[in-house]
Amino acid sequence: METVKALPGTDSAGAIYASHLDLWSDDKKRASWYQKAADHWAAQAATLDGVLGGFPETSEPDLRESRRFLDLVSSRAPNPPKREIVLDCGAGIGRVTKGLLLDLFERVDLVEPNDRLLEEAKKQVGARAERLIASSLEKFEPEEGRYDVIWAQWVLLYLTDEDLVAFLQRCKKGLRPNGMIFVKENVVIEGQWMVDRDDNSISRTDAMYKDIFRKAGLVLQDQLRQAAWPNDLVPVKMYALRGAA
Ligand SMILES: C[S@@+](CC[C@H](N)C(=O)[O-])C[C@H]1O[C@@H](n2cnc3c(N)ncnc32)[C@H](O)[C@@H]1O
Repeated sequence: METVKALPGTDSAGAIYASHLDLWSDDKKRASWYQKAADHWAAQAATLDGVLGGFPETSEPDLRESRRFLDLVSSRAPNPPKREIVLDCGAGIGRVTKGLLLDLFERVDLVEPNDRLLEEAKKQVGARAERLIASSLEKFEPEEGRYDVIWAQWVLLYLTDEDLVAFLQRCKKGLRPNGMIFVKENVVIEGQWMVDRDDNSISRTDAMYKDIFRKAGLVLQDQLRQAAWPNDLVPVKMYALRGAA
């Protein structure tokens, strides 16, 4: 079995960790890791301000760059995914579905664990969403062979490394031929990982994400750093991934 290298990091409460694995080293820690995020999201407003942590003005540049990345990948990849059906993971109030995915794809499914946010997503996207699935990603299994694109944004930061690898492996099975997984997350470009203790989310380093993708059997097809992004926020990166042959 592959040995996991200990990677040092910090959290917003000032704690210093010798290894990221210490965050989730037993069942109790893992349970409280997920509970904190669930409690956090239960207390947020079902609005743009609520889902974007008080930075609603970042939504427009975010969606603009995502569109640019999707188009770039389609123009550069040898066999780009079709634009028929997409899954929006950790969809919140349906911001990405409404502002991006419904413009580019014929059909959209959403998966989101918080009932209140999912209810708002239903109002926002209405009948154009095919399936609204109430589930957390660590428990969710995409239907096999259903999706051209699986989009996961600002949600993989809530999953432990082990659950994230397993989730991406299930996503790989959920893809149609030529399908791709798109990941858009806060990414530390230089330095160590950081945990925000307000919601138990981890900003992983670029190297950590790439290692996780490799472990999940995915190949990096393309990547882009979000432009037009406030300097005081953690950088954001987009990755386009395919199943390894
Ligand atoms: C920062 S919001 C992002 C929402 C949406 N992706 C967007 O970009 O507008 C994070 C979302 O992740 C959801 N979430 C938190 N933990 C999750 C988990 N373990 N599985 C799936 N979704 C989760 C929250 O309920 C919330 O809707």
